[in-house]
Amino acid sequence: MILAVCAIVMSLPVFAQGLRVDDLGNRNVIVRIDDLSKKFLLLPIQEDAPESGVYVTVDGVAEPCRNVRLAIDRVDYMVPLELAPYQGKVVALDIHVGEGHRRTDVIKDVCWDKMCLSDDYSLENVEKYRPVFHHTPQYGWMNDPNGMFYHEGVWHLYYQFNPYGSMWGNMHWGHSTSTDLLTWEHHPVAIAPDQWGTIFSGSAVVDKNNTSGFGENAVVAMYTSCSLTQKQSIAYSNDGGLTFTKYEGNPVVTAPQECRDPKVFWNEETGCWNCVLVSPLEYEAWFYSSPDLKHWTKESEFGAHGNTSAIWECPDMIKVTDPETGKTKWVLLVNINPGGPAGGSATQYFVGDFDGKTFVCDTAPEVVNWLDYGKDHYATVSWSDAPEGRAMVIAWMSNWQYATQLPTRQFRSANSLARDLTLLKNADGSYRVGVLPSKEVEALRNAKPFTTSFTAGKTGRSFSLPSALCEIDMTFSCPKGSQVTFRLSNSEGEYTDLVYDGTSYTFDRTASGIIDFNNDFAVPTVAPASADKVQHVRMILDVSSIEMFDGKGWWAMTNLVFPNTPYDKIEVISNNGNCRVKSLKLYNLTQN
Ligand code: FRU
Repeated sequence: MILAVCAIVMSLPVFAQGLRVDDLGNRNVIVRIDDLSKKFLLLPIQEDAPESGVYVTVDGVAEPCRNVRLAIDRVDYMVPLELAPYQGKVVALDIHVGEGHRRTDVIKDVCWDKMCLSDDYSLENVEKYRPVFHHTPQYGWMNDPNGMFYHEGVWHLYYQFNPYGSMWGNMHWGHSTSTDLLTWEHHPVAIAPDQWGTIFSGSAVVDKNNTSGFGENAVVAMYTSCSLTQKQSIAYSNDGGLTFTKYEGNPVVTAPQECRDPKVFWNEETGCWNCVLVSPLEYEAWFYSSPDLKHWTKESEFGAHGNTSAIWECPDMIKVTDPETGKTKWVLLVNINPGGPAGGSATQYFVGDFDGKTFVCDTAPEVVNWLDYGKDHYATVSWSDAPEGRAMVIAWMSNWQYATQLPTRQFRSANSLARDLTLLKNADGSYRVGVLPSKEVEALRNAKPFTTSFTAGKTGRSFSLPSALCEIDMTFSCPKGSQVTFRLSNSEGEYTDLVYDGTSYTFDRTASGIIDFNNDFAVPTVAPASADKVQHVRMILDVSSIEMFDGKGWWAMTNLVFPNTPYDKIEVISNNGNCRVKSLKLYNLTQN
């Protein structure tokens, strides 16, 4: 265990064994690593300390800067710097210490004593709010999902990753894989910062026809290199997505302004690659085409549509099918921040047609469509090559309003469950995008759920939840003018309410548990109900998230919760005692 190892090292009178700390003044400290026999250098982090610039200097050559919140007064947790790549080399850290650090001859900041060499970095879960069947990073910060592709039965998921703390920064692509979308295997970092900058969001494809010349079935990732400017780069993998080589001709797309988050997709109709990226500050999506993933031609710009009140990020283009007719439409996803329906981050979408050059939107410029009405659903992007032509997406379950303040430590943020998109018809004949949890999620359900039916009264009927991991599936109908509340609660008096009033659903988490880390967290979220007389709602609970869906996918609403003890009860209350719950099913969810 890390702490034990460090405690031994800390009891030494001088700086930690194997390390030499040299304070040069003028905010510059050099730490020489004399002993490279251990696996890690553990760096002490204090989350509210300013970032120090750490240049790992190997045989005299500096690697790109890592910004690390080195502890000044207290250590919140440690982060590991792996030493294996440096064996046989001369290694020193050239540290440009952040504001607030003191000279070591005056008073020693805690980081210099607690920094230590170790063979252990504990990944045992110590986090109360870590979900079980949602994807999370083992440690460190995560935001957007990136580069998702499906190949030979394996789902690959990359993600915006800071390995040096549970706050945003030092963007790398972390990598996980799954064969069931519910359990995840973690792999070493796939793409790390280089001379072009840190690695921002992007996408990946399997180049089945070797159009790029990088090799048969090479996985080609396209991402934003971010330093002084933002430009698009590519990297390829010949080992199925585990390790990547950066293309020597990078960057492959440049522009005289900020632009980012390229989504590459193969266009069957034109036999060409397309890419969409955003110009965040102009609220525009730009479309490109390429024969080989290396040479890109800008084809068109799409903007002045939907919500343009805030920056556009992480676009995605995906073909979505109407299950009734088999008709397909192109759907452009644009994530925006802030400006979401309940404040902060959210995903909007546009249904339309695309000829490989121009996207033509079906709806008028003022129409805004939300993919999810919750507060914790952002950076939605799709899987490349999902099986059976399915349109499958995943979202980051957080909101930039408070993402860095969530009450977890060793890791921060989870991704949503995988979801399938379909086309549904609005009353006026236009299409909307339906969202449902992917069918793979149903593998978690127990075979015999608790099932009941009843008429909801004013005093409420309550039932025990099978566990903190469960799915609540209910169908009900309410006469006009009445409303029904579904309350999840625990013995500490904490609860969340989902209220249906005939036209909409409101989710309220003001009394849900820990909410005081940010005032924007407890704002209620509202989704428009379908016109169906018999309503069907699914709620999926996994420790600290509640994902809610209309049974046909008419609306989705994703919200985090941090109850002090898990909710163990559902209560159904009707204001006039007249709502008929036709079926309430409580599934226990477990991984097999
Ligand atoms: C969205 C975003 C992207 C960017 C990435 C950086 O959350 O701002 O636009 O590529 O995060 O981590």
